[in-house]
Amino acid sequence: MNLIMKMLAAPATVLALWAVSAQAATNDEIAKRLEPVGQVCVQGQECKGMEVAVAAGGGGGAKTPDEVIAKHCNACHGTGLLGAPKIGDSAAWKDRADHQGGLDGLLAKAITGLNAMPPKGTCADCSDAELKGAIEKMSGLK
Ligand code: HEC
Repeated sequence: MNLIMKMLAAPATVLALWAVSAQAATNDEIAKRLEPVGQVCVQGQECKGMEVAVAAGGGGGAKTPDEVIAKHCNACHGTGLLGAPKIGDSAAWKDRADHQGGLDGLLAKAITGLNAMPPKGTCADCSDAELKGAIEKMSGLK
């Protein structure tokens, strides 16, 4: 092999090695790369990362309990309209929670609606976590 050929061959070998090691990435890494950018949350199921987003101070524009209540729930729950449990009437809320198996049971009813209580309390774009925050605030339950 003449000198020119040697000079051309050396970088080619380096390139070939690099390509092999790049392919040796673990399956985990590959899976990570293939992850969708946005993840779909299914209503009624726990949503991975949701709690984190809310805990991080509303990153991504999460609504605070006060915002949700003022905009959507207060219309009925402020005065007890149509028999809605009143905000701050913790006895009434506790009674309901006991019947539905706790806060998560109340959340499930708030999502589906119950008699005069509209689905999601009219907050169609509220996440489960946002609804739960509003229920916690109105009921004083944790
Ligand atoms: C149009 C009036 C109205 C609005 C708006 C409304 N609610 Fe209600 N809500 C009701 C009524 C009425 C009930 C009682 C239903 C029953 O027991 O028949 C109720 C009951 C509930 C209950 C108890 C369910 C149970 O299992 O006993 C929860 C939780 C609740 N509402 C959450 C919310 C939240 C959160 C919002 C705001 C995002 C909201 N509601 C907005 C009328 C309303």
